[in-house]
Amino acid sequence: MTRQRALITGASAGLGAEFAHQLAGLGKDLILVARREDVLQKLAQSLVDEFEVEVDVIPADLSLDVATSKLFADVQGRGLEVDYLINNAGAFGPDLLDDRDWPAQQRYIELMMTSVAGMCHHFIPAMVDRRFGRVLNVASVAGHVSLAGDTSYGPSKAYLIALSKGLAATLRGSGVKVLALCPGFTHTEFHDPEELAKMKRKSPSFLWYDADVVVREGLAALEKGKPVHISGRLYRLLVPVLKTRPGSWLMARFGVKREY
Ligand SMILES: NC(=O)c1ccc[n+]([C@@H]2O[C@H](COP(=O)([O-])OP(=O)(O)OC[C@H]3O[C@@H](n4cnc5c(N)ncnc54)[C@H](OP(=O)(O)O)[C@@H]3O)[C@@H](O)[C@H]2O)c1
Repeated sequence: MTRQRALITGASAGLGAEFAHQLAGLGKDLILVARREDVLQKLAQSLVDEFEVEVDVIPADLSLDVATSKLFADVQGRGLEVDYLINNAGAFGPDLLDDRDWPAQQRYIELMMTSVAGMCHHFIPAMVDRRFGRVLNVASVAGHVSLAGDTSYGPSKAYLIALSKGLAATLRGSGVKVLALCPGFTHTEFHDPEELAKMKRKSPSFLWYDADVVVREGLAALEKGKPVHISGRLYRLLVPVLKTRPGSWLMARFGVKREY
């Protein structure tokens, strides 16, 4: 029997590297995608050594508009089939109103939204033909709440939640399952930039989850066929509260105002 293969974007760090470990542990062959090829090659070698799976590395900058078409052509050129698609690459971005560099804004939108749509567009039809596929889009708790001051990151994650719900409903019964995984604060390289590192130092430790917990929960929810999964019991309790008036009052007390 041929082994299944997972393509993971943003596999060079954090949640993406953890997806690679856990899926390799489940015996899946892998295609690792990110910009830092040297880091991906090192990870690939360690996964081959530890799990005896096949690993392809394809460096790509997903903020470029040609990236997903090139990536799809590269995967096809290698004769590889993708059974699991993990759209995980992402970063904190420029503020839509404050940062006046529109080309940078467009690259951010490409990375956070258009590239995910592109990956789904390219890779899902073959999954439908084979009557098996798993697609996991890494969104965020931030995609569930509208906050004053968050005009880029949260809205991009809200799109991923809506996209995943629409795809999941459309593909019901096809053998292809789609999930938006919504983590809260997770220990990765995401908060390494100084501004975010400062916020991390100030926030209580109970708000922070480890990447292995988030990924394990995500893969289990994907298999169950849930369209959206908020990761972590604490965040499952918090999100409905943050959407209410008292919740927004509470957030305002911490210096973050919610829009109406
Ligand atoms: N950590 C959290 O608290 C948290 C919470 C909710 C959601 N998330 C989401 O989780 C996902 C993974 O983030 P993380 O926390 O694991 O952060 P991370 O450790 O910083 O990893 C981000 C990954 O995305 C890749 N990436 C960034 N820009 C890219 C580009 N232009 N093209 C291709 N790959 C790119 C990076 O690789 P290269 O630099 O090598 O390209 C890296 O592998 C993101 O979508 C993030 O929004 C994170």
